[in-house]
Amino acid sequence: MRTARTPAEARDIVRERKRSGKSIGFVPTMGALHEGHQSLVRMARENTDFVVSSIFVNPKQFGPREDLAGYPRDEADDSGILERLGCDLLFIPEGREMYTPNDRTRLTVRDLSGTLCGASRPGHFDGVVLVVAKLLNIVQPDVAFFGQKDAQQAVIVQRMVADLDFPVRIRLGPTVREQDGLAMSSRNRYLGGDERSRAPALYRALEAARGAIEGGERAPSVVSSLMKGIMEEAGFEVDYAEAVDGAALGMIDRLEGTVLLAAAGRMGRARLIDNIALVISGNDVRETLLEFPEWSRYAI
Ligand code: PAF
Repeated sequence: MRTARTPAEARDIVRERKRSGKSIGFVPTMGALHEGHQSLVRMARENTDFVVSSIFVNPKQFGPREDLAGYPRDEADDSGILERLGCDLLFIPEGREMYTPNDRTRLTVRDLSGTLCGASRPGHFDGVVLVVAKLLNIVQPDVAFFGQKDAQQAVIVQRMVADLDFPVRIRLGPTVREQDGLAMSSRNRYLGGDERSRAPALYRALEAARGAIEGGERAPSVVSSLMKGIMEEAGFEVDYAEAVDGAALGMIDRLEGTVLLAAAGRMGRARLIDNIALVISGNDVRETLLEFPEWSRYAI
């Protein structure tokens, strides 16, 4: 595995591979790699010829009172994991390689960025799309891989890619879970004491919502109250627990079509998020990934 520390180095290495006809797969990360990230690298390995992963803890997506300073960083560990998975290139820039004091450009994906996590993390998704746009321009992959775990991010990135005509296909990997259902997250390591044993209530709440929908419930408010109740009982300080439209991420009157069950809450130091996306058609309810290749003219 090669390592590039500047955009120019990364671009040169990728350009050479593209010239020899290789397809480029890209997995952007902020490091602290867990099984969720690893599954995306495996997906990239299986679907593309040359796999690039990036590690960059992007300051622009953290709010002033968020965990930027304490965000876990372990380059040696992460780079060993990527090497073992068969990643070909690790792009790991310093902050000054990504942003300069002269930068003036900002990006906002309107409407989609203000709901769910965007309501309590103002500016977060602007920071995400800015860095993702820059990384896609630097790496110029054919396919970029994101996790369904960050469903809102995945939808917003797909909208940005379609709106700005990035010639890349976005693929999603399913959420990877611990045995007890807790979604893998770099922030799970903040769970102390008995918080770890209470945290799976987040997924239990989503599963209960799915069960209610399978049983015929079609009122978003009923499903939302059910999820909140389960989270609160486990000691979560609930940020949101909603059933929203899976593409527009806004409120709906009735649960049908593509629906995102999404919840977030604080357990001690950790702010945890999780979701299940469903396609609901009559009595048929099945889980899905929020992939919208039809949004982009570059869909393969
Ligand atoms: O999902 C993440 O880890 C980050 O938001 C991303 C996509 C790498 C952008 O910093």
